[in-house]
Amino acid sequence: MANDGRGPQRRPRRGGRRTQEAGLSPADAPGWALVTGASSGIGAALARQLAAAGWSVVLTARSADRLEALATEVSALGRACRVFVADLSATSGVEALLAFVAAEGLALELLVNNAGVGAGGDFATLAGPRQCAMLGLNVDALTRLTHACLGPMRARGHGAIINVASVAAFQPVPFMAAYAASKAYVLSLSLALWEENRGHGVHVMAVCPGSTDTGFFAAAEMSGGGPYQQTPEQVAAETMAALARRRPLVVTGGGNRAMVAAGRFLPRRWMLAAAARFARPRMRAAAGG
Ligand SMILES: NC(=O)c1ccc[n+]([C@@H]2O[C@H](COP(=O)([O-])OP(=O)(O)OC[C@H]3O[C@@H](n4cnc5c(N)ncnc54)[C@H](OP(=O)(O)O)[C@@H]3O)[C@@H](O)[C@H]2O)c1
Repeated sequence: MANDGRGPQRRPRRGGRRTQEAGLSPADAPGWALVTGASSGIGAALARQLAAAGWSVVLTARSADRLEALATEVSALGRACRVFVADLSATSGVEALLAFVAAEGLALELLVNNAGVGAGGDFATLAGPRQCAMLGLNVDALTRLTHACLGPMRARGHGAIINVASVAAFQPVPFMAAYAASKAYVLSLSLALWEENRGHGVHVMAVCPGSTDTGFFAAAEMSGGGPYQQTPEQVAAETMAALARRRPLVVTGGGNRAMVAAGRFLPRRWMLAAAARFARPRMRAAAGG
């Protein structure tokens, strides 16, 4: 099995013979990584840790000033860095980003689909366009970027894609209904693509954080916090470790892993009520946006 030198070799536990270990370049030097949602939170932490590990990074989000500040940090580490400002909730933003990567001649070795937003509230009264913009970012942009990157990665025979889902991917969440459904899509897609692509040398991985101390809840018009809250740096560090081990899935944080494991054995009605008890008190607005 190939090993990029940044993690122990692991054999598949079950499921038959692999033709090739999916993953990154056989050359030890990491190449270019594209990180969406790099202006804050988990994306910024991941970009910093990737740069510290030797990756060159393309940083994208809507906030030019925050991206430029992070680019200065990355450059100080001696890593190459590009910044591209885009609103990925619109197809035109995704296409502009892909055109930029092509024009710069960057062969992406790693795609991190991290950009995502939530919307807390009663589905019936939350504004429809806001929920559709959320799906545009969380689902459509992630799908388009994944599809665009897979072809060249498979042609080269190596590469990796990290899709940031959530513990909300494991069960429906009343009062965050469309958000949780979007993350269930991300988890399902990523696991299926892990299986489809591991024989082509490309590793696809889903990351499922629980409550993380970022701007996420404020943007979702919810109050933050929650059980087992992590810092974005902790989430990023567990993601880096899982990437090195070629895991198909990482649920970050021991408390979150226990919660997800327990959820498999609990009655659906009980889970729905518990998820509603988490989300409902955190709603700041039931309408608007
Ligand atoms: N925080 C949590 O509790 C938590 C838990 C589970 C999963 N997650 C997931 O983790 C990922 C990162 O979120 P976070 O917690 O780090 O929150 P965050 O700090 O709010 O980061 C969200 C990132 O997405 C970018 N973004 C938002 N809307 C965008 C748009 N229309 N176009 C392009 N970029 C956009 C934001 O940058 P700009 O505003 O500059 O565009 C920012 O860089 C998301 O996918 C989220 O669903 C978070």
